[in-house]
Amino acid sequence: MNIVVLNGSPKGDISVTMQYVAYIRKKFPEHHYETLNVAHEIRKIENDPAAWDNILGSIRSADLVLWAFPLYYFLVCSQYKRFIELVFERKAEDAFNGTYAAALSTSIHFFDQTAHAYIHAICDDLGMKYLGFYSADMQDLLSEVERKRFEQFASLTFTAVQEKVPVQREHAPLAWPTTPYVPVTQPGPVTTGTKKVVILTDADGRTPGLTAMTDRLLTNFSGSAELINLHDVDIRGGCLGCCQCGFDNTCVYNDGYVDFYNNKLVPADIIIMAGSVHDRYLSSAWKRFFDRSFFKGHTPGLKGKQVGFVISGPLHQLPHLKEALLAWADNGGCHARFVTDEVPGAKELDALLDSMAVRLLQAAESGYIPPHTFYAVGGHKIFRDSIYGRMKLAFQADYRYYRAHGMFDFPQADFKTRFQNAFLIPLTRIPGFRKKVFADLKHHMIKPFQPVLKDA
Ligand SMILES: Cc1cc2nc3c(=O)[nH]c(=O)nc-3n(C[C@H](O)[C@H](O)[C@H](O)COP(=O)(O)O)c2cc1C
Repeated sequence: MNIVVLNGSPKGDISVTMQYVAYIRKKFPEHHYETLNVAHEIRKIENDPAAWDNILGSIRSADLVLWAFPLYYFLVCSQYKRFIELVFERKAEDAFNGTYAAALSTSIHFFDQTAHAYIHAICDDLGMKYLGFYSADMQDLLSEVERKRFEQFASLTFTAVQEKVPVQREHAPLAWPTTPYVPVTQPGPVTTGTKKVVILTDADGRTPGLTAMTDRLLTNFSGSAELINLHDVDIRGGCLGCCQCGFDNTCVYNDGYVDFYNNKLVPADIIIMAGSVHDRYLSSAWKRFFDRSFFKGHTPGLKGKQVGFVISGPLHQLPHLKEALLAWADNGGCHARFVTDEVPGAKELDALLDSMAVRLLQAAESGYIPPHTFYAVGGHKIFRDSIYGRMKLAFQADYRYYRAHGMFDFPQADFKTRFQNAFLIPLTRIPGFRKKVFADLKHHMIKPFQPVLKDA
């Protein structure tokens, strides 16, 4: 069998993910493997027609394409995203059509599900026969149990290809909003007062509807409101995954990204992020923006912001994208609102945009940030444990931040609860005591609230 590996690590061969591929190669030597470093080589692939043709030639000859990538911010890295964009922009879907596909990722399991949902949908759009994914923790290969599991996945996947199993498409083709937005009513004025608004867009001249939406928002706000196009910011490349920033938050790039982040975004109270759907996510320019914010490690660099996502395109058919954006905001300690152009008419969109401007400002004035949901509660525990433990050496800046901000909130430090447990749990071995405690559990649960309600 001819297996083509699409390597999605910006690190090329020196990649954790590629160690997993190397393991499979050793365990199943009867197959032929070819690895294409499409993320690492993205510039060449984009600019050199011969390199592009070679890649398509390899894909055409594959019996199985393995999408092998590290997780980057709820998805794949911006370079891999760009490769996927090129496939659609250059109408090269036929090179993939009808071929079996599987996906392999390495990560610390923070939003691996959104990344795999994305790749699955891309495979469906390319007409590939998607067989499933394997989401490995970075260090799984060091465990015998996990190595066995991984071999089982590979073996079952190879068998499925050899037996030519039928595969069902799961993601319906996207239906796009048909008419580009042209406002029909006067924008309602919103005075920003002391609040600063930044509208960040990746409009590239091909999305008039998106430009109309950001233009309207800009006219909505009177006061400190600035429109910035990501294409005008000096960002010279995607995150390289080198993690050198982990020591003291200094990025190896010497371009304008960090200054832009610190001088434009950090002082803002409201950030409106405007973009159009490209394949099944936003553009790779937006992805690059998110990836490069990794110089802040796993700390909430934009904490406390009101964030308005203004999206042109079928966001409501892309649950993984909505989830990724919501989870990004939640983990960052921000409050997110959404408006898309999936509306029956321009009048509705006028009203939605006007209302977004008002509601973002009201929330900024009151300082409202919603309580965390599972996205951030779970995310915090993953990061807390990793930064305290196996990632501490590489992410020393994170460690200092987490310690200074009381984020190492392990239950072991909750001495009151530990004392209560140590005292009361042995007592529950006494049948009479146990009966009384459990019969009255409902009341025990609400008792702590009584003084709060009394004083409210
Ligand atoms: C910019 C950046 C973003 C990342 N985002 C995530 C993430 O969202 N979820 C996760 O679990 N791991 C994330 N990681 C960790 C990588 O997925 C993990 O280290 C991976 O094993 C690296 O694989 P590679 O060496 O093949 O590039 C991120 C790492 C970097 C550098």
